[in-house]
Amino acid sequence: MEHTRWYKDAVFYQIWPRSFRDGDGDGLGDLWGVYEKLDYIRSLGVDGVWFSPLYPSPGVDCGYDISDYMDIAPEYGGMEAFRKVLDGAHERGMRVIMDLVVNHTSDEHEWFRKSRRRIEPYTDYYIWRPDPGKGKLPNNWDSNFEGKAWTFDQERGEYYLHLFAVKQPDLNMDNPLVRQEVKKILKFWLDMGVDGFREDVITYISKREGLPNDHLFPVYKGIRFYNHGPHVHEYLREFKAEVLDHYDCMTLAEAPLVSPKRALDYISEETGQMDMMIQFQCMCADCLFSDYFHMSFSLRRLKHAFSSWQRKLEGKAWNMLYLENHDHPRVISRYGSERYRVKSGKMLAAAYLFQKGTPFVYQGQEIGMTNWRPQDPELYEDVQTRWQYANTHLKDTPEKRLRRMWLASRDSARTPMQWSGEENAGFTTGKPWFSVNENYREINVAAAEEDPDSLLHFYRRAIALRKALPVVRHGSYREYHALSSRRYTYAREWEGERLLVLCSFSEKDIPLRIPGGFDLTKAELVLQNYADPDGKTLKPYETRVYHWAK
Ligand code: NOJ
Repeated sequence: MEHTRWYKDAVFYQIWPRSFRDGDGDGLGDLWGVYEKLDYIRSLGVDGVWFSPLYPSPGVDCGYDISDYMDIAPEYGGMEAFRKVLDGAHERGMRVIMDLVVNHTSDEHEWFRKSRRRIEPYTDYYIWRPDPGKGKLPNNWDSNFEGKAWTFDQERGEYYLHLFAVKQPDLNMDNPLVRQEVKKILKFWLDMGVDGFREDVITYISKREGLPNDHLFPVYKGIRFYNHGPHVHEYLREFKAEVLDHYDCMTLAEAPLVSPKRALDYISEETGQMDMMIQFQCMCADCLFSDYFHMSFSLRRLKHAFSSWQRKLEGKAWNMLYLENHDHPRVISRYGSERYRVKSGKMLAAAYLFQKGTPFVYQGQEIGMTNWRPQDPELYEDVQTRWQYANTHLKDTPEKRLRRMWLASRDSARTPMQWSGEENAGFTTGKPWFSVNENYREINVAAAEEDPDSLLHFYRRAIALRKALPVVRHGSYREYHALSSRRYTYAREWEGERLLVLCSFSEKDIPLRIPGGFDLTKAELVLQNYADPDGKTLKPYETRVYHWAK
């Protein structure tokens, strides 16, 4: 089957189902709610939706702990609701991609229940190791969420590996039967009509033989032995050749700690096994590797991430562009300014939407939702946040510890979508499963629809422009003023058509600087976030997009 690479023309919207919209009044987001909002999603101009996991799950990691890969959770409306949403999306010209989480399952998955009892053929579906005794663990690896990566299972009398939560045992991908299961899952959903997959921590699926101790890394011990492991490309090639190549689908690899050079091993258009990659460098402009190692925001780090991915993938692979998802705090609270919420939200949108690649917008980003700031740590739901709070920086004051959570927690961006100023932000008529951000009376979709100057309308305009101007889809990328810590300037060029994007990351006025060779008198100002841009200054968080027709 020919791969048409349709995704290169697409803009995606990410739905984190629990918090998007509750259609049946039980307090939890569901697919009935999504169905109600399909026209809204389409109205943004997007043509694809990525669903975070919808499968049956105990919910320890909000669905990333799957107990059945071939079904839809009853609380989300089951298969019936999914079918309706899938058809409804397709009717509106939107593709649907699912989350494929096969590095690990839930410990409540039937495979694990059988594996712990050594029932064939499941005995080696997971990574088991005998108890070394004397209180020792099979190796010194850390889990990404909850302390060490090993937990002892009484029933089997052995340790199992879990790179994430205790209830997320890692699958043994070296076992051909496990790979057979993955191919079955891929086929099942593709045959149903889904258009592709976002593949969760897919670079972790192959572990170094012998699972050696890690004496190098002070944190995330073990990661160099399981990220980009020895057989990862072989297994991905197998999935591609045996299943994916037979469908006109798209695959998106989630890849922590990956450089553009390494990315090409996965997504090179000639030799790669997948289509695009979620890289984390653009999420590390205010932290080191992880949101929990917080630093002050550096525009230069952000620009470096943007530009090196643009440059190094050019002509070889296709970028996936994003500023938010369910794993990171809200971008206005991080890289913009809550004080200049709408202005900085627009500027951030322009900073990434006109780059080369396929942009993703995370629910709520388009209305400028900001970080949730609970006063009580008990309100956090996320397994990673709860572990971090209970186990790190214990000597700090409670205020400082809480602040650390706001800055880093994924829950900062997981509060219910703010639809209106009505009770519970119009998210549910029941009791919401999770706290609603108190700012919903001001920040919500209904208010944004009413206001022609809102961020929501800006997103619509920017996405429409992206689609209307071929230079955005095809053009080369060049950055200017790379050393500036206040401005981000980039240009695109294609067959004589040009685009220049100016972004100020400053709370103060800064001088307007136009790179040489761009004659503004011949350009059209196609997008802006101030009504009266002047010829001398960029105002706080100002953005402008100039276009030169062919
Ligand atoms: C990455 C997902 O995006 C995140 O939400 C999840 O907790 C981990 N992988 C583990 O599945």
